[in-house]
Amino acid sequence: MMDSGLPSIDTPALLIDLDIVDRNLERMQQRADKFGVALRPHIKTHKIPELALLQMRLGASGISAAKVSEAEVMAAAGITNIFVANQIVSKDKLTRLAALSKEVNISIGLDSVAAAHKLSDVFAASGLSIEYLIEINSGLNRCGVSPGNEAVELFQTVDTLPALRFKGIFTHAGQVYGADSLSEVKEFSRHESTIMAETAQAFAEVGTSPDFVSVGSTPTMKVWQGHEAVNEIRPGNYIFHDAIQVSLGSATLEECALTIVATVISRPARERAVIDGGSKAFSSDRGAHGKEMASGFGIVLGKNATLVRLSEEHGIMHLDPDQDLDIGDRVRIIPNHACAVVNLFDRAYGLREGRVVEEFKIAARGKSQ
Ligand SMILES: Cc1ncc(COP(=O)(O)O)c(C=O)c1O
Repeated sequence: MMDSGLPSIDTPALLIDLDIVDRNLERMQQRADKFGVALRPHIKTHKIPELALLQMRLGASGISAAKVSEAEVMAAAGITNIFVANQIVSKDKLTRLAALSKEVNISIGLDSVAAAHKLSDVFAASGLSIEYLIEINSGLNRCGVSPGNEAVELFQTVDTLPALRFKGIFTHAGQVYGADSLSEVKEFSRHESTIMAETAQAFAEVGTSPDFVSVGSTPTMKVWQGHEAVNEIRPGNYIFHDAIQVSLGSATLEECALTIVATVISRPARERAVIDGGSKAFSSDRGAHGKEMASGFGIVLGKNATLVRLSEEHGIMHLDPDQDLDIGDRVRIIPNHACAVVNLFDRAYGLREGRVVEEFKIAARGKSQ
């Protein structure tokens, strides 16, 4: 990573190595093609319409979003097939979703009878209908019904509602982020698909076949060996990767496209330097699902340094006392969690061979509703 084109950028700033992005996107698309499944990337990682459009050009079948407001931004930019992979229950959001569904193809997650009624009421009131995928809990213990019969029973209970059209089942085995080894990651990956195959079979037994059986997180998809029952994958983080992926063994440093560049503003002691980015730049993410990152708040590139502590505007690095680092010097740091960090910046700079070639507005940042 060369920095020759960077002096014009003030810090802290978000940098995206576009050559690495190209490779990450191509590799995941190739995996999807190899296993004969649709790739529907989650855009919560980059939140940038231009990058969603790039994913579509490379072969994605559509995108996944977590929020209605993210979907609105992406639809306005020309994405026409959006799965809101979440539970949406407020009347305001459902009304916006109904309006959006007049413009683009929208589908949504569902895991309860109560949410199904709300969804159907709002869409039916406008003379519309919506495709839904039942969310299955494959071990993350977040949203989702239990695999197998519980999913079938939900389908049978809500299928008579006027505005709902059953499209399939989906899951996200996010508990993989607590894995202790790559072999455990592989185990979670197999489990994610097996659970869905069993659930699809339970649907088959009552004469229904889900059009989509959708799985995915970045770690489970990077080691995935395909599964005959699964026909869609939804990784998101793979576009950038981050220090969490590196610590899991699901990405190498060379596959990490996102860095924060920051400036040393103080060197109060040989073993301490302070940079101009704190939790407002790096987020306070120490790791996923309770696992703390050994490397602090990110991986400091090319320096014998650990970003050990953050206040809002300051990042405190612990240094090897012999490490050269003067006030005004810049450091590049791979953040722990790319998705959380992108949400903190208005814009990101796209680099090729170390030079800034593009400036992106992070149009879906802050879209939490
Ligand atoms: C429902 C759902 N699908 C897909 C993803 C993408 O997973 P990852 O960020 O590991 O690529 C997420 C991420 O949080 C998610 O919540």
